[in-house]
Amino acid sequence: MTAVHVQSVTKRFGETTVLHGIDAEIPQGAFAVLVGPSGCGKSTLLRLIAGLEQVTDGRILFGEQDVTALPPRDRDIAMVFQSYALYPHMTVRDNMAFGLQLRKTDPATIEARVCEVAKTLDIDHLLTRYPRQLSGGQRQRVAMGRAIVRRPALFMFDEPLSNLDPALRTQVRVDIRRLHDAHDATSVYVTHDQVEAMTLADILFVLEGGHVQQSGPPLEVYERPKNRFVAEFLGSPAMNMVPATIQGTSLQFDDGSSSLGLDSVTGFEGLIEGRSVDVGIRAQDAQRCADTEADLHIAVRFVETLGSHVHVHGTVGDAPFIAAFEGSRGPDPGDVVPVRVTRFHLFDSESGTSLRSS
Ligand SMILES: Nc1ncnc2c1ncn2[C@@H]1O[C@H](COP(=O)(O)OP(=O)(O)OP(=O)(O)O)[C@@H](O)[C@H]1O
Ligand SMILES: [Mg+2]
Repeated sequence: MTAVHVQSVTKRFGETTVLHGIDAEIPQGAFAVLVGPSGCGKSTLLRLIAGLEQVTDGRILFGEQDVTALPPRDRDIAMVFQSYALYPHMTVRDNMAFGLQLRKTDPATIEARVCEVAKTLDIDHLLTRYPRQLSGGQRQRVAMGRAIVRRPALFMFDEPLSNLDPALRTQVRVDIRRLHDAHDATSVYVTHDQVEAMTLADILFVLEGGHVQQSGPPLEVYERPKNRFVAEFLGSPAMNMVPATIQGTSLQFDDGSSSLGLDSVTGFEGLIEGRSVDVGIRAQDAQRCADTEADLHIAVRFVETLGSHVHVHGTVGDAPFIAAFEGSRGPDPGDVVPVRVTRFHLFDSESGTSLRSS
């Protein structure tokens, strides 16, 4: 395993800059996740770390070693992609052994490692089959097995689960994390799925438009988003954003009907009177209450029943709003529901920068 240091890395394709001076520190043994919307540069950053693309500017170090100019084969990495890229004419055993054979590892060692890894991945009964005789999930495991037998210093994954059905996706996700832990590996994992990102990562990098918007332990990023983009990207349903104005010790929502006390916000006195803000409220932080205790009123449009809770879709003034209420029955469309807000975040309406959290 190795630490990865990405230092001021810029990548241009012709005239287009797709990564703008990226800094990323991935500690030895960490599971790092690069997450962000389509086209933000995740795969490009991964390919730069792997050496499959050349940086335009900046440096990449593995531990103390500057690998910026090294070809992929000299970087001691293994990659698992969305498409399994198994050799169709080779059995599972030969697919897994191939990388070691190229390295002239002795046959007994190869056999021992293939068997050991196949066992941990629960594919040892499939070793004589060909890829076409496997399910999607099994193929993905073989692709992972092929990476693991080489015992690389660094594992790299680019959306390895996106071809799998939801149940299998959860299972293989757990396997990936288990294997990472068992092999004391350092891993870099790319996804646009925020659930994968939250559940897998020790350290999360949220990318947008070729910039790292925020990095850190996933819960910290989730609870203290630095800006509106990160706040809305992480969490499902996405964080609600309701426009408001700061008036004295409270927030006046633009629909004029309701207001929210600022007393729970540390240092709110520093906020500028009359400033326009977006109040960010997660669905589970809006709870049904008596009318006299209400911070907000939701005009209900429709309700989704999920079994243990309901998602109430509606509006607060002109802003769309989703609340998650516990229980199996929700309000009806057309109702106006009073809610109390247990936690909120304030963002500058112009820049989107986080101002305060309650
Ligand atoms: N070889 C290339 N030549 C020109 N532009 C490229 C090349 N590779 C990627 N790009 C551009 O760089 C940007 C980032 O692409 P990248 O593949 O890194 O995105 P991504 O975050 O992995 O997206 P996705 O989630 O869709 O896989 C995109 O706008 C893409 O069109
Ligand atoms: Mg990609």
